[in-house]
Amino acid sequence: MRSILPLILLASLTAGCHCMQAPSVVSPDSSPGDSEVPIGDSEPEDTASDRYHSEDYADPEIHGLEAKLQTLPCNLCHGEDLTGDGTADSCDSCHLEGWREDCVRCHGGQDDETGAPPLHISGLDDGDEASFIPHQAHVLDTSMHAGFGCEHCHVLPTDVLTVGHLFVDDDSAGRAEADFSGGLDPAVGWDDSRTCVSSYCHGDGQGATGRVEHDDSVGACEDCHAGPASGMGDWVQMSGEHRSHLERDIACTLCHNDVVGGDDVITGLSQHVNGSVDVAILDDQVEWDGARCNGFCHDSWYWHWDQGWE
Ligand code: HEC
Ligand code: HEC
Ligand code: HEC
Ligand code: HEC
Ligand code: HEC
Ligand code: HEC
Repeated sequence: MRSILPLILLASLTAGCHCMQAPSVVSPDSSPGDSEVPIGDSEPEDTASDRYHSEDYADPEIHGLEAKLQTLPCNLCHGEDLTGDGTADSCDSCHLEGWREDCVRCHGGQDDETGAPPLHISGLDDGDEASFIPHQAHVLDTSMHAGFGCEHCHVLPTDVLTVGHLFVDDDSAGRAEADFSGGLDPAVGWDDSRTCVSSYCHGDGQGATGRVEHDDSVGACEDCHAGPASGMGDWVQMSGEHRSHLERDIACTLCHNDVVGGDDVITGLSQHVNGSVDVAILDDQVEWDGARCNGFCHDSWYWHWDQGWE
């Protein structure tokens, strides 16, 4: 694709971009520095019109935004790896070393250093208009879970030339691709309605049952599965013997001691919404072998003998 695409793009460059004058001939084989390109004309009054870009193109707000939105295929003229080609200088001639790996240069950096918006690629905090509002609620530790890396929802680039990021073979210029295949919720659905459907993470812990819009607020335990404040109607939806214990006021911490504290607060952030159900019985007289309980439960004075969780 790459050998044909630039030619198609170039055909539209002269018509579409805000360039003052496009080079007379540009192709992947003839760089803008070639003699056919009217650059470096000796007539001062012609200098402006000899340029490919507009006069103010060095302004970061102009060329930076065009680079991010890929209005022009920068690396067609500035070299495949952006180190320059002819009169189209290397981007490194102005940018500080390390700019290619600087993840908060073009997005993020407002609330944390992860690179996640806000700020968005527009350069603004798009607020309610953002393509995905709850980045912070996912990438940082919250009261519910440890922060999730970008790779749960995107292919993680290592620099600006990573395939699919922005300059090289990006099929959706100006729009980030969500790709969940390398994460905890690989089969989750996400589309223009900006809703996660068939989600494990927002589900009931028994399967990919969750559905959440990106502007929903998710704060309570009961937003995903039955919790301490639920009643019988919801506890019966949980697996096995939950209901029979919860109706006796037995707290989550008794059996999920690694995850929840006595006050129903999540204490094991990295073990909650991590893809596996963690059972750890507080009472050391009782053993859970992954399927059955054995022992004497002090709290309730119940004796469990090879008790299943059907
Ligand atoms: C068709 C070829 C071509 C494309 C595509 C192109 N450039 Fe250029 N660029 C040039 C040339 C030639 C120059 C040298 C000055 C001039 O002619 O405007 C240049 C110069 C520049 C400069 C220096 C401007 C100045 O006034 O000193 C910047 C910044 C720049 N380009 C950024 C970009 C970015 C960002 C993109 C992609 C969004 C891009 N260019 C796409 C050919 C191109
Ligand atoms: C004439 C000098 C110059 C050249 C050449 C240049 N830049 Fe820039 N660019 C700047 C300056 C100055 C900034 C703002 C300070 C910074 O971010 O380092 C900037 C910022 C940017 C930004 C960040 C914009 C933002 O606010 O998010 C992008 C993206 C960018 N440049 C892309 C490019 C690309 C791609 C090239 C090469 C095709 C290029 N620049 C070449 C001077 C230049
Ligand atoms: C829980 C999933 C999730 C995680 C984790 C996540 N993102 Fe996103 N991100 C998305 C979704 C969904 C979109 C919107 C995609 C679309 O437009 O369809 C998005 C969009 C973006 C955008 C484009 C924003 C814009 O301007 O429109 C950037 C940049 C981005 N993410 C960077 C990151 C980075 C960097 C990280 C890691 C620090 C990260 N994301 C972690 C789900 C996530
Ligand atoms: C020169 C600007 C620039 C730099 C530097 C940059 N990004 Fe991006 N990034 C973008 C743009 C523009 C998009 C969204 C548009 C797109 O996909 O076409 C994006 C999208 C993303 C996405 C969403 C997935 C995708 O590819 O669409 C992630 C994740 C991301 N960047 C992470 C990073 C990380 C990590 C770094 C540092 C290694 C980084 N970015 C550095 C411009 C940049
Ligand atoms: C008497 C012990 C016990 C108590 C009390 C208990 N759980 Fe569980 N829980 C389990 C066991 C055992 C499993 C694992 C079942 C399996 O492996 O299939 C489990 C699994 C789960 C799951 C995964 C989904 C499911 O339904 O299996 C969730 C979510 C969960 N518990 C939440 C809670 C919450 C919230 C509380 C408190 C309101 C709680 N549990 C109280 C023993 C308990
Ligand atoms: C965003 C959805 C979501 C919210 C909100 C949520 N949980 Fe969970 N919870 C899950 C999922 C998914 C599981 C399945 C097991 C896993 O991946 O850790 C789970 C599992 C559990 C378990 C079983 C132990 C384990 O493996 O983590 C307990 C106990 C639990 N949650 C308690 C709570 C409590 C208490 C709250 C409120 C303070 C809460 N949860 C809020 C999604 C959620």
